[in-house]
Amino acid sequence: MSVLVNSVANTPPLVQARNVHKSFENLEVLKGIDLDVVPGEVVVILGPSGSGKSTFLRCINHLESINRGSIEVDDEQIGYRLNKGRLVKLSSHAIALQRRKIGMVFQQFNLYPHMTALQNVIEAPIGIHGESRSQATENALALLDRVGLSAKAHNYPRQLSGGQQQRVAIARALAIKPKLMLFDEPTSALDPELVGEVLSTMRDLASQGLTMIVVTHEIGFAREAADRVVFMDGGKIVEQGKPEDVIGNPQHPRTRSFLSRFI
Ligand SMILES: Nc1ncnc2c1ncn2[C@@H]1O[C@H](COP(=O)(O)OP(=O)(O)OP(=O)(O)O)[C@@H](O)[C@H]1O
Ligand SMILES: [Mg+2]
Repeated sequence: MSVLVNSVANTPPLVQARNVHKSFENLEVLKGIDLDVVPGEVVVILGPSGSGKSTFLRCINHLESINRGSIEVDDEQIGYRLNKGRLVKLSSHAIALQRRKIGMVFQQFNLYPHMTALQNVIEAPIGIHGESRSQATENALALLDRVGLSAKAHNYPRQLSGGQQQRVAIARALAIKPKLMLFDEPTSALDPELVGEVLSTMRDLASQGLTMIVVTHEIGFAREAADRVVFMDGGKIVEQGKPEDVIGNPQHPRTRSFLSRFI
């Protein structure tokens, strides 16, 4: 059981991961992850390459199935349901319904190249959620404004910088009104001068109360925006706590060694 260190420690968790194990054939990648995230909390996951950070995020929205343990989001077990004490895999339709609660932003923005920024943002609300075009467009324009891109609504991805494309991708993920946002190294593919604008957008979202799990190597972002920093290594959570503790005064030698690379 993780120790909640923010001010909303008594709120029931939005995400409950229990003893999550994941293997790819003989390679055990997640070796028993326990993590609770309460509504409004911003959790930053740090850790060396190959420690299982992306795999864990992908398990949360069931892009990967897990071998043992459980993950609940908003009181629903992701990917499975209990039937007479046994776990039964959900249908792809049921999994798609669960994914509506979870927005994900990846390192590669993967916008549709033949669609404008606005069209990229309204695609899922109309196509998957059955929103009317006018309602979806109104929401999308508000979201593009929120990520600072109202002037670019009618531009195609090739007409946008990497940072602008990533902000469209964030608006697109928000368009399904997720309860939880997962970010997997959202700034790693960007030129250094474009990282700041994406982090600033994410900082705004964090301060507006969005529940976020962010995998990043941006230690400054972790320090400023995270309620909790989780350090993963070798498929386990090695250390977690407030940023000033985990980053400012790491207890575990592996955390120390990892952070020493950033100083
Ligand atoms: N689909 C897959 N099939 C087989 N092995 C995989 C698969 N996905 C990930 N792995 C392996 O699982 C381990 C953890 O990978 P993961 O991508 O979760 O690490 P990470 O912490 O996100 O690393 P990075 O910081 O480099 O992104 C690695 O050894 C990787 O090679
Ligand atoms: Mg990764």
